[in-house]
Amino acid sequence: MSVLVREPFAFVDALERARARGDRVGLVLTMGALHEGHIALVHEARARGAGYVALSIFVNPLQFGPTEDFARYPRTLGEDLARCREARVDLVFAPEREVLVPDGMQAFVEVPAIAAPLEGRFRPGHFRGVATIVTKLFALGGPCVAPFGRKDYQQWRLVERLARDLFPHVEVVGVRTVREDDGLAMSSRNRYLDATQRERARGIVLGLRAAHAAFAAGERRVERLERCAREPVEGRFDAIDYVAVVDPESLQPLEGGLVRGRALLAVAARLGTTRLIDNTVLGEEPPP
Ligand code: PAF
Repeated sequence: MSVLVREPFAFVDALERARARGDRVGLVLTMGALHEGHIALVHEARARGAGYVALSIFVNPLQFGPTEDFARYPRTLGEDLARCREARVDLVFAPEREVLVPDGMQAFVEVPAIAAPLEGRFRPGHFRGVATIVTKLFALGGPCVAPFGRKDYQQWRLVERLARDLFPHVEVVGVRTVREDDGLAMSSRNRYLDATQRERARGIVLGLRAAHAAFAAGERRVERLERCAREPVEGRFDAIDYVAVVDPESLQPLEGGLVRGRALLAVAARLGTTRLIDNTVLGEEPPP
């Protein structure tokens, strides 16, 4: 049975009591509309020794731009609680907006170098919103293991850096993307897609696979790998924000336009008003 709390002190108190009993705490941060990808984070926390797992649900207004989907973002608390019960989540923290984003808020957190490329170019302010709310939840949550999905690769890297710099008592773990049968990365935003868009959405995974095939055949030129990944997306999506092969740690361009070792291939593209992102690490992961 997952307990639902809305008050920050109840959340802090429950986690402190779990630690006092000797449990390691797992903290899974989400915006709700839970799917198998989120549940994989719960399992990862358990696998990392968490005897007590808390999951937060908060659709964070700070990380949405003025023309983005904050208003229509799915809010499915009843279903989310049922999934949490099934996954044996111990506590669900679903605070009201004012708890995490008080009116006239003035204090924000930035991780500028990791926030700037890729998503940062298309979603100004997004990572400031993410870093600020993650900071607040880490501060309330205390020492814990915090798994993050690698589907949001740049977010995972940014949070890893945030923890390294400000929360040494939080262990951030990146968890492999969970995919549908046809390869589409699970995302709360997939539910926006109609049947035709859903079919066209496969373009991204086809692009990732094409780049993996080229990489396996020895291609190391960034421009060629990007071209391979781009082609199936171009034919199916309405607009491409980026298809980029970059350094998997810094997310910066690769020296000399060549992959030496591993590289992140990241894609963001739009189908109508829905924006999808996905990625893979060439030279590290199997093709998706
Ligand atoms: O990945 C998400 O759902 C959000 O960006 C997060 C980490 C919960 C911060 O609002």
